[in-house]
Amino acid sequence: MEIIKTIEEVRRHVKAARSEGKKIGLVPTMGALHIGHTSLIDRAVKDTEFVVVSIFVNPTQFVPGEDFEKYPRPIDEDMKICEEHNVDLVFNPEPEEMYGQENLTWVNVERLTEPLCGRSRPGHFRGVTIVCVKLFNIVLPDVAYFGQKDAQQAIVIKQMVADLNMPVEIVICPTVREPDGLAISSRNKYLSDQQKRGATLLYKSLLKCQEAIDSGITDTKKIISKMQSILQQEPSIEIEYISIVDAETLQNLDRITGRVLAAVAAKVGPARLIDNILIDTSRK
Ligand code: PAJ
Repeated sequence: MEIIKTIEEVRRHVKAARSEGKKIGLVPTMGALHIGHTSLIDRAVKDTEFVVVSIFVNPTQFVPGEDFEKYPRPIDEDMKICEEHNVDLVFNPEPEEMYGQENLTWVNVERLTEPLCGRSRPGHFRGVTIVCVKLFNIVLPDVAYFGQKDAQQAIVIKQMVADLNMPVEIVICPTVREPDGLAISSRNKYLSDQQKRGATLLYKSLLKCQEAIDSGITDTKKIISKMQSILQQEPSIEIEYISIVDAETLQNLDRITGRVLAAVAAKVGPARLIDNILIDTSRK
């Protein structure tokens, strides 16, 4: 397996693979790889014949005051994990390689980037979209893999690819969780054992939402207040949002209908955590 720092070298390797008729898969990551990431990698290895994993802590998607500096960068461990999971090439560029001296071009996906995480992280999604455009243009993958864990990111990327007629298929993979329900995240590393136990309330609040909908409650305000009571059981949880939105448009719903995304964001001690579930009420 190759670790590559330059765009030119990535292009050379991918071109060679493509000339052998291989289908190219890309898994964009910021590293500190865990079983959430490897679930995407394993899917890419299953579906495609040449798998590129990018490991790049992308500065432009961090809002001032966030954890860019202290974001974990265990590159040796990450390489080992990629090797074990049969990745063909790891692209691990420096910021200068990706952004040059100055980057003046951005992609703004309107409306979908405004609610949920867009509210508290202004500029975050334009950092995500530009880095994904760059990665898609560098690797030219047939398929790129993203996690449902970052539901809004996945929706934004899908919209961008459709709007810009980009020739890449976007596959969204399910959220991988700890046995206690906590969604796996690189930021869980910031949590003490006690905070980790508290953080399980995020998923518990989402299960409460599912349970309320299953019991026939359709008033989203009522459901949100039930979810809030769960999160308030742990004083160290600082709720950022509890939202029940349309799964395609991400607009708030007054009443439960169709495909619904229940999403929560909260600070637990030093970590900002997010989680969500999709509930398809049209299937009943
Ligand atoms: P990162 O947080 O490293 O996540 C990389 C990919 O792994 C994302 O698509 C994310 O949704 C997925 N992922 C993370 N935790 C997961 C879990 N528990 N289960 C399933 N998938 C999970 O998301 C980013 O990086 C960046 O924004 C990126 C897309 C790489 C652009 O910089």
